[in-house]
Amino acid sequence: MNTEVLDELKKRRSIYALGKDVKQSDDEIVDLLENVIEESPSSFNSQTNRVVFLFGDKHDQLWDIVVKRLKSEVPTEAAYEKTKAKIAAFKAAYGTILYFTDTDVVKKLEHDFPLYADNFYDWSEQSQGNAQLEVWTTLATNGLGANLQHYNPIIDDQVRAAFDIPANWRLRAQMPFGSIEKPAGEKTYLDKASRFKVLK
Ligand SMILES: Cc1cc2nc3c(=O)[nH]c(=O)nc-3n(C[C@H](O)[C@H](O)[C@H](O)COP(=O)(O)O)c2cc1C
Repeated sequence: MNTEVLDELKKRRSIYALGKDVKQSDDEIVDLLENVIEESPSSFNSQTNRVVFLFGDKHDQLWDIVVKRLKSEVPTEAAYEKTKAKIAAFKAAYGTILYFTDTDVVKKLEHDFPLYADNFYDWSEQSQGNAQLEVWTTLATNGLGANLQHYNPIIDDQVRAAFDIPANWRLRAQMPFGSIEKPAGEKTYLDKASRFKVLK
């Protein structure tokens, strides 16, 4: 069996120590990732994923929004210091990819195909996973690290206002990416027998 894809998938890890030492141009990164996202599957080819690429000041602005917003959520000053350090690490990355779902498209599918109406939102989430994995892996195969964050929904309103996001785009994830300043920690795996069944 060809194991090339497995080898590529193994390169993708959650990298938390990210930096700005990126050799590729912003245009190269965007061009490749847009194509990758276009190739990701979605139910009925509905292409419900929407993506915003943040670089430079816009990337910084996002993480400034997050750190300010978390102030009222964190119980103590000491805890907030830890939160600030964590968010500073995301801001130290080169850029951030924001993932949204176009809820108008989901609603239209629910209306047009009532038989599957209960499924369309779940399927849009699965499409998110498809696109996110493909982007994350593509970054890894280009020597770039990334991790996946979920400060939605508490930042949604501010993100919408800051980056002129349409009202029907629902924020699903934030993916900071950049140079790999420290490799990922060791990964553990469940025993295969507890996860997989092969029936013949
Ligand atoms: C749906 C989903 C949600 C996740 N949410 C977060 C998150 O909010 N913050 C975070 O640091 N990592 C998050 N992760 C990353 C996982 O913790 C990570 O993928 C897992 O521990 C395996 O490590 P690896 O990415 O290095 O293989 C998420 C991953 C998935 C698939």
